[in-house]
Amino acid sequence: MQKENLLVEGERILRLNWKDGFTIPTSKLYPFQWNWDSGFVCLGQCQFDIDYAIREMNSLFSGQWENGMLPHIIFHSENEKTYFPNFDFWDSNVNNGAPNKPKTSGITQPAVHGFILEQLVNRFENNSSIIEFAKHLFPKIVNSHRFLYKYRDPEKEGLMFIFHPWESGRDNSPIWDESLNRININPEDIPAYQRRDTSIAPTDERPTSDQYDRYVYLLQLGKKYAYDELGIFQESPFLIQDTLMNAILIKSNNSLIQLGKKFNFDTAEIEEWNQQSIKVYNDKFWNDDIECYVTYDLRGKQQIKHKEIGGLTALYAGIPDQNKASILNKYLQNLHNRGYYICPSFDVDSPLFDSKRYWRGPVWPQMNWMIYHGLRNYGFEETAEIVKNDLIELVDKLGFYEYFESQKKVVSDLNNGYGGKEFSWTAACIMDFIKQAD
Ligand code: SER
Repeated sequence: MQKENLLVEGERILRLNWKDGFTIPTSKLYPFQWNWDSGFVCLGQCQFDIDYAIREMNSLFSGQWENGMLPHIIFHSENEKTYFPNFDFWDSNVNNGAPNKPKTSGITQPAVHGFILEQLVNRFENNSSIIEFAKHLFPKIVNSHRFLYKYRDPEKEGLMFIFHPWESGRDNSPIWDESLNRININPEDIPAYQRRDTSIAPTDERPTSDQYDRYVYLLQLGKKYAYDELGIFQESPFLIQDTLMNAILIKSNNSLIQLGKKFNFDTAEIEEWNQQSIKVYNDKFWNDDIECYVTYDLRGKQQIKHKEIGGLTALYAGIPDQNKASILNKYLQNLHNRGYYICPSFDVDSPLFDSKRYWRGPVWPQMNWMIYHGLRNYGFEETAEIVKNDLIELVDKLGFYEYFESQKKVVSDLNNGYGGKEFSWTAACIMDFIKQAD
C-alpha cells in the first residue's frame, strides 16, 4: 500500500471507531473508552480534526475520580453487555469519589496524557483553542500524577506500584507469572464469571483462564479496599513497581514541567517528584546481568529478572545515561540482525517467549512509537528508522491489527495480525509515523 493509502485507511479506522465524543480501541473486543489507548489515538486524530482529540481527552477525564485516579476504562454506555468485566462487576462506586456517571473501572493505566498533551501543544502552538484546552487539562493531569505518588507510593520511595497486571497495559507478560502464581484460587474466592474476549479473538492469542481467574481475584481485592485504601498495599500478593508505568510517569512529568514553564504555572511539586523518581529508577531497576531495566516485585522484594519491553521505555523518558542507552540500542540491533521485527514484547531467548500470545512476544504499535522517539533522544537514528519501518511494514502486509507476529520467518506465511482488527492506536501510530517521514 502507498503511504498515502495507509494514511487514508488510518483516518477511516479512527472515524469508524469514533463514538461521538470518544474512541473505542476496536469494535466487539473493547467496546468502551480505554485510558492509554485514548492518549495515542489523539496523535492520529489531530491530523484530520484537532477537535476530536480535545473531545477525546475531555471524555476520558470526565471519568476521573475525586482522589485524582484516571481509570483504565470509562463505560460511557451502560447498555453495552458484550464486555467482561463490565461496570457492574467493577462496582467502582464502593469508592465515594468515583463518578456515578460515567461508570468506570477501579484501576488505572500508564500515565501517557502529559506527553500526549505536550505533543498536541507543540504541533498547534499558534492555535489558541489548543492552548486554552491544554491549560484546562494541565491541573487534571497533575492531579492524576499526585494520585500515583500519594496512593501508590505509601513509603515515598519515588516509584509507584501497581496491584493488577491490567494497570501495566501488558496483561499477561511472563514478568507477572511468579507473582500471579502466588495466588491460590479456591472456587469460593471469586464469583462465577464468563469471559467474553475468547469468543471474539482466538484463544491462543489471549491470556489463559488461570490468568483470568487471578485478574478477577485482584479486582475483588481492589474492590474490598475501595480501590484506594492502604489495605491493597498491605495485602495484595501482586504488588509491583513496573518499569513501563514509572518510565511513562517520568516522561509525562517532564512534559508537564515543559508545559508549566510555557504557561507560567508552578512546577516545583512535579520537579521534586521527578528528580527522585529518575534517580531511584536507575538505582533499583537496572540489572547488569540482564543488561536492561527490570521490573521490581515489591511483595517478593526482588527484581523480576527478565528482558522485556517495559525496560526499553526508559529511553523515551530520557532515564538512562548514554552508556546504558547504547546497551539497549545494541540489544535492538541484535534482534533485527537475527530476523525479528523489533521490538518483540518479551525475551526471544526465554522458554516463556510466545510470539503469538498477547504480551508474551508479539510487536505492539504504541511501544514502537515510544521506542522510536526514545532512540532518537540518544541519537540512534538508524535503529529508530528500523523500529518505525518495521511497524509500517507489518501493518502494510497484515492490516491495522492490535499486535503482530515478531518472527520474520513466520510473518512471511501470514495474512493477518493478531487480536482486534481495525485497531485505533495502530491507525494513530502509523499516521504519526508517516507524517513524520514527510
Ligand atoms: N486489556 C484488558 C482486556 O483484555 C483489560 O484492560 O480486556
